[in-house]
Amino acid sequence: MIETDYFILKEAHSLGADADAIREFYTDWAKTYDTDLLMAIGYAGHEAAAEALCERISDTALVLDVGCGTGLVGLEIMKRKFDVEIDGIDLTPEMLKHARKKGAYRTLNVADLFTVLDEIEDDKYDGVVCVGIFSHGHVGPGGLNELIRIAKPGAPIVFAVLEASFEADGFNEKIETLETEGKTKTLDVSLIAFYPKQEVFCQLVVLEVI
Ligand SMILES: C[S@@+](CC[C@H](N)C(=O)[O-])C[C@H]1O[C@@H](n2cnc3c(N)ncnc32)[C@H](O)[C@@H]1O
Repeated sequence: MIETDYFILKEAHSLGADADAIREFYTDWAKTYDTDLLMAIGYAGHEAAAEALCERISDTALVLDVGCGTGLVGLEIMKRKFDVEIDGIDLTPEMLKHARKKGAYRTLNVADLFTVLDEIEDDKYDGVVCVGIFSHGHVGPGGLNELIRIAKPGAPIVFAVLEASFEADGFNEKIETLETEGKTKTLDVSLIAFYPKQEVFCQLVVLEVI
């Protein structure tokens, strides 16, 4: 991987997994997030994750977009499967404000994946997607436990982890442990371009909940 010199990405990756710092950072970025990411930086992670999820869910599935931000992933899901119901959660209310304008989500709520998602019952969702929050300075592999709890047995969990974070932060070990413990089956791990113009890659992981 070539280190990006795009300052805002460097800043995003140095937030030290501190919920207040992350919220402040995305509150400031929310207004220009979509144009910065799609036009200036160049983003492909949302499309790849939506595609991987939609290949594995029914046309009327209920899915959760964790760390939905301004709703770019929700829009991509809707383009592929219009009748899927999408709930979104995010730490940053200002990002959710922009997601609301997209009209792709059934519900949008503030929630923190550093903690237990106690307002969401066990085995609720037919699929879970999580893009851009498992990485340096954000949420570590422990966050996967909650995604597994709230997904139905057989449901796919699709998530992206920046290449530089995948082994360094123990995501590879976590996936192996989950499989050994009989909690998930690993369906796919693929290296894909996340920010193509910056030559930043991620591992796109698809797990099936057992
Ligand atoms: C890089 S953005 C990704 C947004 C969206 N998924 C996308 O692909 O454009 C990261 C998002 O994760 C959210 N986030 C970071 N830490 C979080 C946490 N602990 N719980 C919930 N959301 C979190 C941030 O507020 C931000 O909206």
